[in-house]
Amino acid sequence: MAILGEHKGAVEHPRRVAVIGAGYVGIPTALLLSHFGHQVVLAERDDYRRTTMQDGRSPIIEEDLEELLRSVLETQRLRIIGDAAEAVVNAEFVFLCVNTPMGIDGHADLSFIDAACAQIKDHLMPGAVVINKSTVPVGTTIRVAAAIGRSDVAVVSNPEFLREGTAVRDSFGPDRTVVGGDDQEVAATVGGLFALTGAPLVVTDAATAELIKYAANTFLTTKLSFINAMSQLCDALGANAVDLVRGIGHDPRIGFSFLNPGPGWGGPCLPKDSHALVAIAETVGEQIPLISAAIETNHRQQRHIVQRVRELAGGSLEGARIAVLGLTFKANTGDRRDSPALVITKLLREAGAEIAAYDPTVPVDATDDDVQGLNLCASVLDAARDARVLLILTEWNEFRELDFDVLGGVMEQRTVFDGRNILDLDIARSADFVAWGIGRS
Ligand SMILES: NC(=O)c1ccc[n+]([C@@H]2O[C@H](COP(=O)([O-])OP(=O)(O)OC[C@H]3O[C@@H](n4cnc5c(N)ncnc54)[C@H](O)[C@@H]3O)[C@@H](O)[C@H]2O)c1
Repeated sequence: MAILGEHKGAVEHPRRVAVIGAGYVGIPTALLLSHFGHQVVLAERDDYRRTTMQDGRSPIIEEDLEELLRSVLETQRLRIIGDAAEAVVNAEFVFLCVNTPMGIDGHADLSFIDAACAQIKDHLMPGAVVINKSTVPVGTTIRVAAAIGRSDVAVVSNPEFLREGTAVRDSFGPDRTVVGGDDQEVAATVGGLFALTGAPLVVTDAATAELIKYAANTFLTTKLSFINAMSQLCDALGANAVDLVRGIGHDPRIGFSFLNPGPGWGGPCLPKDSHALVAIAETVGEQIPLISAAIETNHRQQRHIVQRVRELAGGSLEGARIAVLGLTFKANTGDRRDSPALVITKLLREAGAEIAAYDPTVPVDATDDDVQGLNLCASVLDAARDARVLLILTEWNEFRELDFDVLGGVMEQRTVFDGRNILDLDIARSADFVAWGIGRS
């Protein structure tokens, strides 16, 4: 990993840091800071995640993470323990990286934040700074400060923008660092911990920092929902969504990023954060119809795909075996939280289809609740056997070059729906497949 060589142990004044929560955000944060030369204690209460990391293995699928973990463990600058209270005892900086799932009525569930505050408040050293990296509603910095209840401890907001699948790369090379707090000097000091990344630092008040995270994520949902709506229109008009993207993306005001139509946005952040922003607006009597429309468009896109698969299946899904390729919310992660693939398979099953699913990260004997009722397969070929439609829902590289002659030989009929627009449909058609994609048929 080239990035490791660039920064190794480079910090002049090592600080003592605690990170609470070893997840997709907490692990890269802890590894980055210890890699830069800081002394880091990472607290994780989940036994599997903690012991796996202590053994030098990554508990989550993330490119370069295990290599970075091993190199950091060798430096002895990272300690991994279970108890958050113990982790903060000598820490000058304490990062809260705990989960904030969707709660009632779309509001973020802050129970893990509250619990972590209760755990650490009596153990923080005077002068410590608590930094909220979790995605939280506006006002949470004040809530955390009240929960900690210590005038000798500062609290700031430092939203995280990394993407799963490229979490290490994004942590070492972020587009920007945002820190918000009442005391701008403290905020700037926290920003300084990330100075070696070279990213521009945006220092602001806490409310703005908290809102920035939601604004960034919901902007992306509106962009994705826009292009998904255009793809639906392409289907209705017989136009081609891939060419449409090429035709508008070259305009630098639009750009190509986040402009590929697909099975709807999902994952652990975009759905919960868009609902949370709608809920945040409601608390101050505001409405943001644009975001509500983006959410509704997302549901429509998933229903639209089910309808397209129904058409390919011959008009009914009742008893049809559908081979679903990909269950994670995107490629290069094992994360299935709010995965569009799972939403679509659920809709297909409700319509009477039988699902044979293959995903490189899901073992055939997986028993997790979200894959109950799916016939899990060990390969694309196994999933395709006797299937009426082959349906790609995650853009794993291995699905980009399928052998349609072989697949056609085992399927009930030769039909494929490319829900990620990763295929050259002409290749499938040359093997006598009826092949459709998102906004192209
Ligand atoms: N996943 C992403 O891509 C991403 C990106 C940016 C921001 N975020 C935000 O960052 C936050 C964390 O997300 P995540 O995906 O890393 O979550 P995660 O569920 O993967 O990890 C959170 C971890 O915190 C641990 N934890 C909770 N309370 C604890 C406590 N008191 N002591 C010790 N460990 C505790 C949990 O066991 C869990 O392992 C969320 O607010 C999320 O919205 C996530």
